[in-house]
Amino acid sequence: MKIKNICCIGAGYVGGPTMAVVAQKCPHIKVTIVDINESRIAAWNDEDLSKLPVFEPGLDEVVKEARGRNLFFSTDVDKAIDEADMIFISVNTPTKTYGKGKGMAADLKYIELCARQIAKISKSNKIVVEKSTLPVRTASAIKNILEHTGNGVQFQILSNPEFLAEGTAIEDLLSPDRVLIGGDNTIEGQKAIQALVDIYANWVPKERILTTNLWSSELSKLTANAFLAQRVSSINAMSELCEKSGADINEVAKAIGMDGRIGSKFLKASVGFGGSCFQKDILNLVYIAKTYGLKEVADYWEQVILMNEHQKKRFSDNIVNTLYNTVSGKKITFFGWAFKKDTNDTRESAAIQVADNLLSEQANILVYDPKVIEERIYADLDYLNSRTSEENRDLLKIKTNPYEASKNSHAIAILTEWDEFKTYDWVKIYNHMNKPAFIFDGRGILDMEELKKIGFVCYKIGSGSK
Ligand code: UDX
Ligand code: ADP
Repeated sequence: MKIKNICCIGAGYVGGPTMAVVAQKCPHIKVTIVDINESRIAAWNDEDLSKLPVFEPGLDEVVKEARGRNLFFSTDVDKAIDEADMIFISVNTPTKTYGKGKGMAADLKYIELCARQIAKISKSNKIVVEKSTLPVRTASAIKNILEHTGNGVQFQILSNPEFLAEGTAIEDLLSPDRVLIGGDNTIEGQKAIQALVDIYANWVPKERILTTNLWSSELSKLTANAFLAQRVSSINAMSELCEKSGADINEVAKAIGMDGRIGSKFLKASVGFGGSCFQKDILNLVYIAKTYGLKEVADYWEQVILMNEHQKKRFSDNIVNTLYNTVSGKKITFFGWAFKKDTNDTRESAAIQVADNLLSEQANILVYDPKVIEERIYADLDYLNSRTSEENRDLLKIKTNPYEASKNSHAIAILTEWDEFKTYDWVKIYNHMNKPAFIFDGRGILDMEELKKIGFVCYKIGSGSK
């Protein structure tokens, strides 16, 4: 079976870049990405590539090459479903904020809506691919909806979880460690798997394309994210011990990372992990384990999240304690708001929680981030409902220049590891700050010895104060 026409529902951080790369690498396939969000689609179609709704290094080049050739962005969901042989579902699956499983289970309402729409529109056989991270056995729910509400056409369901990391999405998509495709063990299921394998084989070496059953594929995605998040929480737990004992977390990370069994990646201590996946997927895993009555399994994974909460809290507590136990009326500058460098995504960013804690202590915060827009930052804070949006706008200001943001400030907190922070004129910044001038490096990216020589009082995550 040769796929000629792909539709992707959801033009977000996953659907947008993933399908742009599929279109670039498969010029013989028409790829249409649809979304109900009109302004998002308009931004994807903007002539000015700096206006794309997702910032990812290299994405603009890929879009420039494929858009209008075989890559299209549209709000006409029904038409794209009707024309497609293969439909990717890449809509958001946030943690439920209501009802059963509130705060833990994934909210599948967007997925279900998609499945119902696909069932209603389809007049020919289609392969439906789950791209969003989903709880194990969601595929069977989708299948059920499609089979019972459809027009008698055949659907094959595949699970093809996306492992790209934001900030390196294009690199990850062009040369993935592996591509995972799960499907039914029937003749039809195997044909559907092969159709998707053939698409990836246009640029991914065959030995990196793994095929499994549906449930293994779904569970592998949750497991991969849980393991990665666990590594961050493990190194963060050790960072606190380092600060107390006089060890340095970077030295410890290097020493353990040289053990081939442990490996050197993903051992950077930080103010806490963020992003749309880690917390959501672990909560989901915990919920599934509880559903099966596996209390110890659930408790084990929940600890990864609790450690992350603790890391964010102790970072803001440390700022308050160091500034003589009060930050009321003091200016604190945040360098960075995104959950990691090279992205404009702020979902679950540690900066949000740290800001909220400091605002509760009546600090005045000035934020500079090279890519995150003002509306996003206020929306993140307003969402917490800790205070009115007027109070948030009054206490927290956003600056578009790091020097402006640090003028007369008492302390600078590094919340994101943007490379540009390392290139600043720190003498100039020191000179226009309130004295003593403090730096709290929550990402361990600055040279503390140099900053100390300038006159700063420094704290670096995992090595304490200098
Ligand atoms: C993650 C997975 O890596 C990816 O495979 C999956 O598809 C989606 O979830 P992402 O959330 O985009 O990707 O970014 P990632 O690089 O994993 O970082 C997640 C968070 O952990 C960030 O806040 C990052 O700053 C933090 N982190 C990562 C650390 O604090 N230390 C590290 O050593 C690595
Ligand atoms: P992710 O990081 O998983 O890509 P995003 O929130 O960035 O998540 O993107 C998901 C996109 O899916 C959003 O742009 C949202 O508007 C879109 N979406 C959600 N439900 C539907 C639907 N039923 N039809 C079309 N698009 C949808």
